[in-house]
Amino acid sequence: MNERAATGLAYAATDGAAYDIFLGRWTERLSQPFLDFIDPPDGALLDVGCGTGSLARAMKHRWPERRVCGIDVSDAYVAFACGQADAEIDYRVADAMKLPQASNTFAAAAAQLVLNFVPDPRVALREMMRVTRSGGVVAASVWDFRGGLVFQRMFWDTAAGIDPGAGQVRDKLFSGALALPDGLEKLFDESGLERVRRGSLTIRMDYASFDDYWEPLLGGQGPVGTYAAGLDPDLRRQVKASVRAAFLSGAPDGPRSLTATAWAVRGRVPQRR
Ligand SMILES: C[S@@+](CC[C@H](N)C(=O)[O-])C[C@H]1O[C@@H](n2cnc3c(N)ncnc32)[C@H](O)[C@@H]1O
Repeated sequence: MNERAATGLAYAATDGAAYDIFLGRWTERLSQPFLDFIDPPDGALLDVGCGTGSLARAMKHRWPERRVCGIDVSDAYVAFACGQADAEIDYRVADAMKLPQASNTFAAAAAQLVLNFVPDPRVALREMMRVTRSGGVVAASVWDFRGGLVFQRMFWDTAAGIDPGAGQVRDKLFSGALALPDGLEKLFDESGLERVRRGSLTIRMDYASFDDYWEPLLGGQGPVGTYAAGLDPDLRRQVKASVRAAFLSGAPDGPRSLTATAWAVRGRVPQRR
């Protein structure tokens, strides 16, 4: 897997409040089945690429007595997470490819929807293994963009029919190595982690209306936000009208519940010599 082979796309992460309404409200839901899947042994926990803190908060709520840390490369997201924390969580601005924590610190390190945006996921995974003690768990999830992410599928396929530029971004996102069914699993297998296991986690994104779906896309976060917010006004009007028709599907505006599935993989850190 080459540098940036995961998606070829960097993640625009400039505004914590915009992220929270765009995706954080849903990643909060995904954190619950992901924590069940991680099933960490006793000890401290690390959320790698914590964003606005969905997984770190879920960890702290589930295991209040444990030390929980979160790192993200975005200072805007980390600042927002610090403002949200209703529990004591140690957040830091840091790169997943160079974690600031000492070796053998954690019982588990987990990255939710992050590794496909990191320049070299192998390096990030090596770092997660380094900071996790022998016998501890390293876990990651990535959206199943191709087969399981209705809110993005609807947007990109509709926009690609109007603007070939949308098709190019979609193809990078949907066909990146880690978005494929066995992508994360291969990465974990090649890393030296033991007892590697794959799962598939599904949540529902419950939108109140088309505006509740559309407006958060204009906040400029992530590849879809970068694309939608950067469109010239005429093209954006066309894309919006077509995406609206897809969202409504011939029925009056109102609530829509869209499924969202992520691939998840976990492995055990082997005994160190
Ligand atoms: C889709 S968001 C997921 C955020 C969070 N884990 C969640 O579940 O809401 C991707 C996150 O990866 C972070 N990220 C991207 N590259 C990173 C890197 N090299 N090191 C740390 N975080 C990174 C972004 O800043 C962003 O917060």
